[in-house]
Amino acid sequence: MQLYTNPASPFCRKVEIVLIETGQRADVTDVASIGHPTDSAGMPTAINPIGKIPVLAREDGPALFDSRVICRFLNDRADADLIPANAWDIQTLEAIGDGICDAAVLMVYEGRSRPEDKQHSPWVEGQWAKIARSLDALESGWMSHLAGPLNIGQIAVACALSYLDFRHGDRDWRAGHTELANWHAAFSERSSMQDTAPQT
Ligand code: BEZ
Repeated sequence: MQLYTNPASPFCRKVEIVLIETGQRADVTDVASIGHPTDSAGMPTAINPIGKIPVLAREDGPALFDSRVICRFLNDRADADLIPANAWDIQTLEAIGDGICDAAVLMVYEGRSRPEDKQHSPWVEGQWAKIARSLDALESGWMSHLAGPLNIGQIAVACALSYLDFRHGDRDWRAGHTELANWHAAFSERSSMQDTAPQT
């Protein structure tokens, strides 16, 4: 199988971590992909019309996307337990992590795609407000889920927090989120996290 991926993308990192944690890394070859909403020339548009990564190309079926679908496929393929049946809370935790990534990536795209005088700071701050609310919700209501056995929600949140460090370090997400920051520091010790640190 081939994974269309980019080492800066937190969504691709989720998939890379699932590959490592479920013992399937050797089954997949990475295909470097680069692009953004106004330039999809380097994206696998022939197999994902949406023009986003990650995409998993298989020998025996259509290409799979997005990261949630790929992670579920890989979890089932390895008979792993990262997404326990009917664990709606864990899937909601994943949605919070992915939502933080959506907002954080959009902030980056705004900076990259528009000239400085055309950037709309209320829109950028609106994206950050989604992230700030999510950080508060994680700190106040989700620490017990983050403490349990490894699951897809933890992986998504870890990728999101690391992406905030990578692209939005000046925002200091740790302020007022001490438990979350401590959890992230401990989770980041996993070798799957160390092996997939984001790169420009
Ligand atoms: C980034 O450079 O931050 C990035 C690259 C690919 C996908 C998402 C984000």
